[in-house]
Amino acid sequence: MSSMKLSKRLIRKTATLLSLPVLLMVCTTAMSGPREQAKRIHDRLAGVPPTPATLDLMVDEIVNNNDPLAAAMIAVEHDDFYNVTLKNWATPWTNEEQTVFAPLNDYSATVIGMVRDEEPFNQLLSADILYVGSNAPVYSVNDNAHYEAIEDQGLNLKDVLVKRTQSSVTGIPSSGAAGVISTRAAARAFFIDGTNRGMFRFTMLNHLCKDLELIKDPTRSSDRVRQDVSHSPGGDSRVYFNNCLGCHAGMEPLAEAYAYYNYEYPEGNEDAGRLVYTQGVVQPKYLINSNNFKDGYITVDDSWINYWREGPNSVLGWDASLPGSGNGAASMGQELANSHAFAECQVTKAFQAVCLREPGDSADRTQIDTMTTSFKTDYNMKRVFAESAVYCAGD
Ligand code: HEC
Repeated sequence: MSSMKLSKRLIRKTATLLSLPVLLMVCTTAMSGPREQAKRIHDRLAGVPPTPATLDLMVDEIVNNNDPLAAAMIAVEHDDFYNVTLKNWATPWTNEEQTVFAPLNDYSATVIGMVRDEEPFNQLLSADILYVGSNAPVYSVNDNAHYEAIEDQGLNLKDVLVKRTQSSVTGIPSSGAAGVISTRAAARAFFIDGTNRGMFRFTMLNHLCKDLELIKDPTRSSDRVRQDVSHSPGGDSRVYFNNCLGCHAGMEPLAEAYAYYNYEYPEGNEDAGRLVYTQGVVQPKYLINSNNFKDGYITVDDSWINYWREGPNSVLGWDASLPGSGNGAASMGQELANSHAFAECQVTKAFQAVCLREPGDSADRTQIDTMTTSFKTDYNMKRVFAESAVYCAGD
């Protein structure tokens, strides 16, 4: 009997001892959803775990307000979202090699600042806007030292970037300011030498996610193709009509918008150059090799027209409320940045940066469509990052 009692007590005691951890386990399982979700959201956006205080705030949004997006909007305030995630996001667009291993510059800083301040991102290619650092040597039109100093000092981009106008900082007339297109870094990379078609090609690639090869359309008019493009390359005019025209017919009348820009540098020192804007005067690079096709188009000003509004490239989703033609880089930038392709491209790039993979299955495609639709209502890029993190962190 006594041994029975003992064993019963033991069992009871064991049960009591067990019940506490079991209960705790039940509790933590119930809690682990939101806490784990919050941690993952934070990690996706900032690359590091949240502090306990931040984690509590995020969990509170998820549990008590049922609002994981609000939790993600807390995480995007972490310094590393700006210093690391956004810096790495924007840097490859600012150089021809598309490398992430390049210093901060006025192009990437302006992207980061616009996201931080929730500036309408469809003004990326048109606004008279430039972000500079508050605690660094003064901005110079001849070098990138200002931005490299910000990085060398380890300053937080979230804190030090200040919104200015290009016209007040670089002295470009405001009619020549065209968002990141007229930054020094973009000029160094894409207005250097050549014929300024490079700026157009990389803008399409980086901001509409379209390599020209993919959107060739040889059915557009040839009438704006410049004189330097031979109409019988290798003596064969069929090559021109079947191949060259596919890009050049549509590209040329858009790239005319850049006719007043150049990047001038001391011989042998490409990094010591500056953006030049010659309002009203077409850059000589637009008129070179005029003997290649004498009947070709002679650029007289910076007027542009978008032939791709018609034909197969109408699928890029041009904005019907815009005229489709104009003068200068800013209005052409608006043409590009108000297309559906631009919005979808920015969303897709944010998805890739946060989810660390390409959108794949149909659920991903639906998510991209949903975010693109929401992005087009106010062009708040910061929210797209937050939405992507919520999606990829699971629930
Ligand atoms: C896939 C699109 C595409 C096709 C096809 C194409 N081009 Fe181009 N072309 C470009 C781009 C983009 C540039 C600007 C390159 C740069 O500066 O980065 C360019 C530049 C040029 C230039 C200026 C070169 C210079 O900088 O001096 C000439 C001339 C030219 N192309 C002729 C042709 C001819 C002739 C053909 C057909 C055999 C052709 N292109 C086919 C996209 C294309």
